[in-house]
Amino acid sequence: MTARIIDGTLLSKQLRAEVAQRAAALAARGHRPGLAVVLVGDNAASQVYVRNKVKACEDNGLHSVYDRYPAELSEADLLARIDALNRDPQIHGILVQLPLPPHIDAHKVIEAIAPEKDVDGFHIANAGALMTGKPLFRPCTPYGVVKMFESERIPLAGANAVVIGRSNIVGKPMAMLLVEAGATVTICNSKTRDLAAHTRSADIIVAATGKRNLVTADMVKPGATVIDVGMNRDDEGKLCGDVDFAGVREVAGYITPVPGGVGPMTITMLLVNTIEAAERAAG
Ligand code: GUN
Repeated sequence: MTARIIDGTLLSKQLRAEVAQRAAALAARGHRPGLAVVLVGDNAASQVYVRNKVKACEDNGLHSVYDRYPAELSEADLLARIDALNRDPQIHGILVQLPLPPHIDAHKVIEAIAPEKDVDGFHIANAGALMTGKPLFRPCTPYGVVKMFESERIPLAGANAVVIGRSNIVGKPMAMLLVEAGATVTICNSKTRDLAAHTRSADIIVAATGKRNLVTADMVKPGATVIDVGMNRDDEGKLCGDVDFAGVREVAGYITPVPGGVGPMTITMLLVNTIEAAERAAG
């Protein structure tokens, strides 16, 4: 079997067209949706992600403010900036790119964002509400993965799902969204004993570890859906995920590529969350 490739770039194009329509409708009513993106420091990967987020706003009719600060910015100054953005009526979504420099407490910063502007869905109010099934915003990467399942009509109710990774950004919220959809979910991590024993019985595998070639063909049940959230570089410096794509695509039923899979969906769902925030603010 050769897996069907879930094309995140194509699905993003369709979803971004809807975003652009909603943005235009809001703008016509005098409410231009606005996103503030905050980057502290000069992490090279973060710079690329943030640039892509700002460009996606521009391309789809959203207003964006890009605040770049040196790594030495104090926590107090960052909190003051967030306070100003919370009060700014032109700004409907606030995204503070992670990771932050070690002298800044990321939890404190995230909790300072107004929950109704927390388009990352990381605030404890939204993370807690995700547990009860009613968050204002779903975290962008797992939300994008859910859209991929929906677009291919991959059944989640009753499915055995294995999430590899337990981060607040991907692993934990991904597991909650799968639970909400009726899947039987196992969350694995780098210390899991016999990872392959878990993945081999999975109908759905979501890999989010940052370890190249972690998931190989022998670990995948024939016909399973394999979602690759990894963003790594191979020996030639080319972008690759956590999944041995060439091997696994010969076994899986569905697979996402890197690049062109989950990556564009993360940014797309950020736009969707920002539009929702702006629509709620507009009433
Ligand atoms: N760093 C890696 N992924 C993300 C994300 O989705 N949002 C934020 N704010 N930082 C990140």
